[in-house]
Amino acid sequence: MFTLRPAREADREALYRICLQTGDSGQDATGVYDDPALLGHIYAAPYLTYAPAFAFVLEDAGAVGGYVLGTPDTRAFEATLEREWWPHLRTQYPDPSGVPREARTPDQRLAALIHTPRTAPDALLAQYPAHLHIDLLPWAQGGGHGRRLMERQFAALREAGAPGVHLGVGERNTRAEGFYRHLGMEELARSPGAITFGLKL
Ligand code: ACO
Repeated sequence: MFTLRPAREADREALYRICLQTGDSGQDATGVYDDPALLGHIYAAPYLTYAPAFAFVLEDAGAVGGYVLGTPDTRAFEATLEREWWPHLRTQYPDPSGVPREARTPDQRLAALIHTPRTAPDALLAQYPAHLHIDLLPWAQGGGHGRRLMERQFAALREAGAPGVHLGVGERNTRAEGFYRHLGMEELARSPGAITFGLKL
């Protein structure tokens, strides 16, 4: 019996684990990174900390099998992280900016995002100020739960007043790409390696 519920502090470890186990274009990234917490520091934990009203998990028999995390106001979220989240991590993970991009290890590529976080373009945020991340473990995939999580998140973001939501997906993650298109999301931009999708709420 799968249940969908708001995430809570006790889910933090599960969020880190799921983020890692789906972090290689939807496949398990365990072994890709020396530090297993790095992906979660960037893509999961800050949402539970700073946007808990937009963090939902899927649970079955006490095990968390997936989440959707997001924020209705990407720009404000970026500012909060700049002030409160990144400074501590920057003391933990050295800035790789002195290492040429092509010579960086996978961990260094993530550390670069801690030191120089990506910020969403103004033109995108004008219409799609919210953003989200969704990840389900293999045992929770393909049963309609991804759609349920997305619809729950869309409703929460809409209620918070966001007129639109965007997300980024790696170009290699063709399954997720098909899922977003199937849910009616529109391709807004394509850069080497990634596609940005958006949906009006
Ligand atoms: N192409 C076309 N339609 C699809 C595809 C696809 N590749 N995948 C799913 N669908 C359809 C289903 O048929 C279903 O249709 P219906 O509701 O009309 O019957 C609908 O989409 C919903 O499918 P779900 O079963 O809910 O999909 P699932 O639970 O597997 O969730 C997800 C999809 C989120 C991609 C999941 O498989 C997953 O977490 N994968 C691994 C992690 C991942 O890749 N996350 C995305 C990273 S990018 C980001 O977070 C912004």
